[in-house]
Amino acid sequence: MDRIRIVGGRPLSGAIPISGAKNATLPLMIASLLTEDTLILDNVPRLADVNLLQRILGNHGVDIMVGGKRPGDTEYQGQSLHISAAHIVDTTAPYELVSKMRASFWVIAPLVARMGEATVSMPGGCAIGTRPVDLLIMVLERLGAAIEIDGGYVIARAKRGLKGGEIVFPKVTVGGTHTALMAAALADGVTVIENAAREPEIGDVADCLNKMGAKISGAGTSRIIIEGVAKLSGARHSVLPDRIETGTYAMAVAMTGGDVMLEGARPELLQAALDVLAKSGVQISTTNTGIRVARNGGGIGPVEVTTDPFPGFPTDLQAQLMALMTRADGTSRITETIFENRFMHVQELVRLGARIHLDGETATIEGVRRLKGAPVMATDLRASVSLVIAALAAEGETMVNRVYHLDRGFERLEDKLVRCGADIARISG
Ligand code: EPU
Repeated sequence: MDRIRIVGGRPLSGAIPISGAKNATLPLMIASLLTEDTLILDNVPRLADVNLLQRILGNHGVDIMVGGKRPGDTEYQGQSLHISAAHIVDTTAPYELVSKMRASFWVIAPLVARMGEATVSMPGGCAIGTRPVDLLIMVLERLGAAIEIDGGYVIARAKRGLKGGEIVFPKVTVGGTHTALMAAALADGVTVIENAAREPEIGDVADCLNKMGAKISGAGTSRIIIEGVAKLSGARHSVLPDRIETGTYAMAVAMTGGDVMLEGARPELLQAALDVLAKSGVQISTTNTGIRVARNGGGIGPVEVTTDPFPGFPTDLQAQLMALMTRADGTSRITETIFENRFMHVQELVRLGARIHLDGETATIEGVRRLKGAPVMATDLRASVSLVIAALAAEGETMVNRVYHLDRGFERLEDKLVRCGADIARISG
């Protein structure tokens, strides 16, 4: 199993190209199931989760061709996927595949909308909390699907097609909103979603669906209206930049000090996180090529932050912010409201010398003068990268184990950091 070795203490300076967003790419690829025409996605990041979803879609009969390189392409350019679900040969998504990636459960919506039935394994719990799918099932029922749960599988049937309806989410759910968008796009009649997730990835999926012929308005607000259409067609869509990757590197620069241009990043996708960084003393400026992040000389100010659905501070940046606050000049408090168990990084950060006290959903972080390298590992993607951030500022060597978590969501992490002067390398085997 690969490991990553980091020797801390070097400031970062230079430029980091930001990849396409993982959490938009996955639902966009799944949306290809809605049409028999080809959907072309550009700016797709090279990630383990994208490869896994290719396999999962392949199991349903979807053909995916990866576009070749063009003159002038750089090594960091995203890939283009040509996805064709002309012939869906299987409407079952088995446990062996769904259990590896939760978002693959979302195939249930386009499959039932287009094929009238779908049998999809329940994803089960995962490292960050119980993460049920009750609200996704509620969506399908509201749109007229009959649901049965049998042997760990959700079987959804709508032989005569789905029907538009009113969906009121009792809590904001990204996956629930994606499910509702995809199911309602091909339903008969109008669907109204209340308390919809407003994450930028929802807007990106809605934009792509509209290019495919869907009639969706209000995406990006908490009320989305979808006028169902009988058929969707192919389209070409470029995935929006990854706001979590952007925020992660911004926090890495804040941690080590230095000056880095995050190329292609868009500030409006993570304003809450940029505001927190600015408050802690980091200089943030926007140019027409991206976001520039710098900390030269000054210390890191402590902050009080609560995670919230967009436009609030994202849960997917909570671990990274905590890593940063381990070196703050004072005491910070971070409260996690989205997932009940997203604190696996705490024990590992403590191994590096951090002082963190957990009380329910709130972590109190007492800034320390120095962190010291140690072997660490984490069981989730964002937790793993928080350890990388801490290691970049720790004295001596840190070995991050279980690197496959990082590969799920960060494209060429070591390369991007090495370019900016970090001492970081992957050790194979
Ligand atoms: N929830 C329910 N019932 C449901 C669905 C969700 O109770 O049927 C709860 C969850 O347990 C959680 C809350 O609602 O407490 C919000 O969950 P949400 O459905 O919004 O999360 P998700 O769609 O499963 C996506 C991202 C996550 C990100 C969350 C929150 C993707 C592929 N995943 O998950 O990303 O943390 O939204 O923003 O888009 C990551 O990239 O590392 C990651 C975990």
